[in-house]
Amino acid sequence: MGKINDAPSIGELIEHRLNRRDAMRGLLGAGAVATFSQIPAAMAQDSGPSTLTFKELTHTLDDKQHVAEGYDMQVVIRWGDPVVAGAPAFDPANLTAAAQEKQFGYNNDYLGLYPLPAGSRSGDRFLMVANHEYINSNLMFAGLGAGRDANLKTSKAQVEVEMAAVGGAVIEIARDGNAWKMVDGSKFARRISANTPMKMSGPAAGHDLLKTSADPAGRTVLGTVNNCAGGGTPWGTWLTCEENFNAFFGGDASKLPDPKVQKRYGVGGRSGYGWFQYFDRFNLAKEPNEPNRFGWVVEIDPYDPGSTPIKRTALGRFKHEGCTYALAKDGRVVLYSGDDERFDYVYKFVTSKPWNANDRAANKDLLDDGTLFVARFNADGKVEWLPLVQGQGPLTAENGFASQADVLIKTRLAADLLKPTPMDRPEDIETNPVNGKVYVVLTFNEARKADQVEPANPRARNEHGHILEITPNDGDHANADGTWSIFLLAGKPGQDAGARYHRATSDNGWLSCPDNIAFDSKGRIWIVTDGAPHAAGVADGVYGADTTGFGRALTRCFYQAPTGAEVCGPIFTPDDTTFFLAVQHPGEDTGSTFEKPSTRWPDFKDGVPPRPAVVVITKKGGGTIGS
Ligand code: FEO
Ligand code: CA
Ligand code: CA
Repeated sequence: MGKINDAPSIGELIEHRLNRRDAMRGLLGAGAVATFSQIPAAMAQDSGPSTLTFKELTHTLDDKQHVAEGYDMQVVIRWGDPVVAGAPAFDPANLTAAAQEKQFGYNNDYLGLYPLPAGSRSGDRFLMVANHEYINSNLMFAGLGAGRDANLKTSKAQVEVEMAAVGGAVIEIARDGNAWKMVDGSKFARRISANTPMKMSGPAAGHDLLKTSADPAGRTVLGTVNNCAGGGTPWGTWLTCEENFNAFFGGDASKLPDPKVQKRYGVGGRSGYGWFQYFDRFNLAKEPNEPNRFGWVVEIDPYDPGSTPIKRTALGRFKHEGCTYALAKDGRVVLYSGDDERFDYVYKFVTSKPWNANDRAANKDLLDDGTLFVARFNADGKVEWLPLVQGQGPLTAENGFASQADVLIKTRLAADLLKPTPMDRPEDIETNPVNGKVYVVLTFNEARKADQVEPANPRARNEHGHILEITPNDGDHANADGTWSIFLLAGKPGQDAGARYHRATSDNGWLSCPDNIAFDSKGRIWIVTDGAPHAAGVADGVYGADTTGFGRALTRCFYQAPTGAEVCGPIFTPDDTTFFLAVQHPGEDTGSTFEKPSTRWPDFKDGVPPRPAVVVITKKGGGTIGS
């Protein structure tokens, strides 16, 4: 919440950059906005020049969720609700691993929608996939208390529940009037957990660094953890991303081989959970290679509940926030992914071959073969994509990269050698379906020092984050170059140095800690936040804005989450009449416990702790979300 003291030279630099780019492109940027006299009369309304005409919500910070007037909210599914056949009802006083393996998991993050029937343009029936990122042990179980060590006090039986509560879920949902409901007994319903058998594929599969005592071949692994955001493929599979996997490992790290590599991934630091105390594969002293089997993008076919999830090593190993696709002009698939850590990088992967729209099975292993690139954002407004290919440049055996598998398992270290731009926590990266530009969301980086400021990360002690906009050269996502500019700099205008939006952004429209985004079919951006209560003293929420025209970067507050919760997984139905959100870790506040949580959202019943849940928002009486 504090004020940021920008060096004047930095302010000038940003100013110069914004103005130069705006002039160059003839567009209305965040820094150079039309005066109201230029705005057509029809636009002179409550919402100013924005095409989003909903009545703006006031910032809040309380134990409930809030949405703009005229909209309905409904919970579609919550942690513990039955998912697969035979699942028992939620019983918070008696959680068991067997029940949890069949129930909706904890901390829902990414949401994806897949039409039913498969391949149809249905807008009324979908498979919904959800990631379950991590657990809040002390809000799930009684008696663990509060504080830093509470999550390490779990019993073995509780850890087993936790291992069943992470991963992901597939449910079937159907429109029911102007509301939505889960379809009970769907043949597609599925839970993925830390126990689900998975394959490793691509160039790193079978490498010595992936071999463990349970898997001497280095080709199979149990489960996925810390599934943050994700994405999909044009052939209708789900990509779920392993982000802060290191938090699940613990034990004596002093004898870990290759400590430089492990340190670069944060492996060997303090464990976030008690798993290593009971399960050797999470104990670094016993299975030092197990962490190398996490940090990947996992491909899952939601239409085939019996299919084996596959960790696609060609996409590299880092703390993948998400993985979203765009198509190159020749039909190759381009997947953008951020490595969510302070000073880490932005990546893209380009498949070697085009995808086949006529034969789904032909795309089965498309993600095993292609080129991974890391981004350098130059001061002249150009972005360069640097290939991570063994044998090219410094990626040699003498530098520790004897094979492409080495490059992929140690992606962060390989990337370091190419001197990409260290970013302010790259989170979601998504392509606007209307203008084809790529939006890179940077949550915050309070650790950036004044001498580390550079144009694409223009603020020292960046507590509020920002959003970049990339224009691929010639409009082709496969190109190794493009241009970039700043879409907005978050924070409270007038208070937080450098905060920049559209000039007409209201006192409720500013935001802090942008994290994930979605675009509606008109190309408007919907930004969800993670960290605003701490950084800015307001609830995390949802903000909509135009990306072009008079209302560009005029963010407007649409939704506010209950205390402790971040907002994740924003996604619209293709007709823009329904907006789904994943409300994650409600009640995750200092001092909050199972017995005395800071909120009991969404049930508000004594004895029932807060429950991460999927929320659906529709307009009263139906219609397009936002306007
Ligand atoms: Fe799981 Fe980068 O947030
Ligand atoms: Ca996120
Ligand atoms: Ca986040």
